[in-house]
Amino acid sequence: MHNFDILIIGSGAAGLSLALRLQSDYRIAVISKGPLDEGSTAWAQGGISAVMDDEDSIEQHKADTMDAGAGLCDEAAVLHTVSHGKEMITWLQELGVEFTYETGLNGKKYLHLTREGGHTHRRVVHSADATGWAIENALIKNTLEKDNIELFDHHIAIDLITTHKQLQNKVKNETNQCVGAYVLDTIDNRVKTFKAKHVVLATGGASKVYLYTSNPDSASGDGIAMAWRAGCRVANMEFMQFHPTCLYHPTAKSYLITEAVRGEGGKLLLPNGTEFAHEFDPRGVLAPRDIVARAIDYKMKQMGVDCVYLDISHKPKKFIQDHFPNVYARCLKLGYDMSKEPVPVVPAAHYTCGGVMTDLKGQTDVDNLYAIGETTHTGLHGANRMASNSLLECLVFASSTSELINSKIIKDIPTVEIPPWDESRVTEPDEEIVVAHNWDELRRFMWDYVGIVRTNKRLQRAKNRADLLSSEIDEYYSNFRVSSDLIELRNLTLVADLIIRSALSRKESRGLHYTLDYPESDPELEDTDTILDPKTEISNVKPIYATS
Ligand code: FAD
Ligand code: SIN
Repeated sequence: MHNFDILIIGSGAAGLSLALRLQSDYRIAVISKGPLDEGSTAWAQGGISAVMDDEDSIEQHKADTMDAGAGLCDEAAVLHTVSHGKEMITWLQELGVEFTYETGLNGKKYLHLTREGGHTHRRVVHSADATGWAIENALIKNTLEKDNIELFDHHIAIDLITTHKQLQNKVKNETNQCVGAYVLDTIDNRVKTFKAKHVVLATGGASKVYLYTSNPDSASGDGIAMAWRAGCRVANMEFMQFHPTCLYHPTAKSYLITEAVRGEGGKLLLPNGTEFAHEFDPRGVLAPRDIVARAIDYKMKQMGVDCVYLDISHKPKKFIQDHFPNVYARCLKLGYDMSKEPVPVVPAAHYTCGGVMTDLKGQTDVDNLYAIGETTHTGLHGANRMASNSLLECLVFASSTSELINSKIIKDIPTVEIPPWDESRVTEPDEEIVVAHNWDELRRFMWDYVGIVRTNKRLQRAKNRADLLSSEIDEYYSNFRVSSDLIELRNLTLVADLIIRSALSRKESRGLHYTLDYPESDPELEDTDTILDPKTEISNVKPIYATS
């Protein structure tokens, strides 16, 4: 049994920023299911959006975010996030993050601001094309220097422990409280119990539910699934974002080519060399992501081609190497010289806009349980996240959640004994192939039936398969010893079900959810969230959930 004041599950931008902002007299555990830097944060390329320039404004950042969100952003959440941009950049600089600078005509150095889809101004602060790497390294370095923070890598949380579920409400308290988590140490292969007064989910997104994704393997929606099982509502799961430009390569794993390439003049071309993005939106390649990804998907299907091309070869080689050193090197290694030729690209699953419902201070539906970062639905992204708003959300919500936790008197956890993990009825798995097979099947049918363009029939097909997989996996889970693969597959199957049910209940096309059965947006559904509640199991499109 490990005892902490605060247990943070996840060591990306959200989790580590929170750990650093909590009072230094709290005993804090941060767990990460793999190496500390394995999440999406370290992979982020483009940058962090923040209003840094006098010609830009918070109002404009808010308006661009709400426009990209296609009518579903919660204004309070947007304002809360964008108004803290500059403060977050300063905080990161104080932690030692080195951003890219340029020299102005007056000889002074300024942060270089790049542009990405949906932004009407240059407002993306970055560290060349490896912004996430710079941030994650600085966060880890600073966390390692803190005596009150203990880091547990290679520890995967299996489930949250709540008074209503595991303790069957033996505590004299009506409300459902989170008091810890069961965690598998994947080196020792032992399940440990972490008891904590406050538990925070900072587990990232769920894009690994699709066959092709820009995300690292850790993005298996564990936080969303654990929160759901603990009794939290989740919202807007139909809005899975596909990034328009991942490198198309027959053997290499999906590799993102940052939107900043388009921000700095990159064009999208058909195989015959013609540009096409303006056919779909006057903003062309810098329209919000849902529009550009759908345009590519449409053209690929219409022309029967495997990919389109991203071309920045008209820019000087030095410019490309200075701005995109890592993307340039990676493409070169895989046989494409960006400074001489267009690079083949396709859309891939990239970001989970929906998630665990929280207020502006990360509070979920369960007492003492908070959620921050990509695992959440805060109301910021609406039906489509604007580029580079995610890292900002991680930092801002980590900050406001720390204020809430710091302001609470840390009470002792209910004295009731937490039962140890029960393995008495399980045996060693006899057919690992079941897990491997179901992984592949799930990710393929999600790609084929719940992708960029949907129909009721495809969604229903996906639902039937997800139901079958769920019952098979539940049986497997109850009988065999847990492993990382099984934990992730169980979570992904649940998240797939939440995505499909949400998609089936939204009877219109909006933002990232596009269905041929209802190709238009329904004005009556403006300002609505798709809310799923584990108590009723019913998914409902309801007036927007106000976070304030
Ligand atoms: P993550 O950084 O994904 O961290 C999740 C953590 O949770 C990891 O430590 C993981 O090990 C841990 N974890 C998960 N499940 C468990 C479990 N069961 N038990 C224990 N630990 C667990 N956004 C931007 O704003 N700007 C960008 O330029 C940008 N570029 C991107 C480029 C790429 C290729 C990708 C994939 C994403 C990009 N994004 C960008 C999105 C952004 O990086 C992520 O949304 C953000 O980093 C998420 O941070 P997080 O802290 O919520 O989660
Ligand atoms: C990118 O660099 O294109 C990714 C930016 C983001 O996802 O916000």
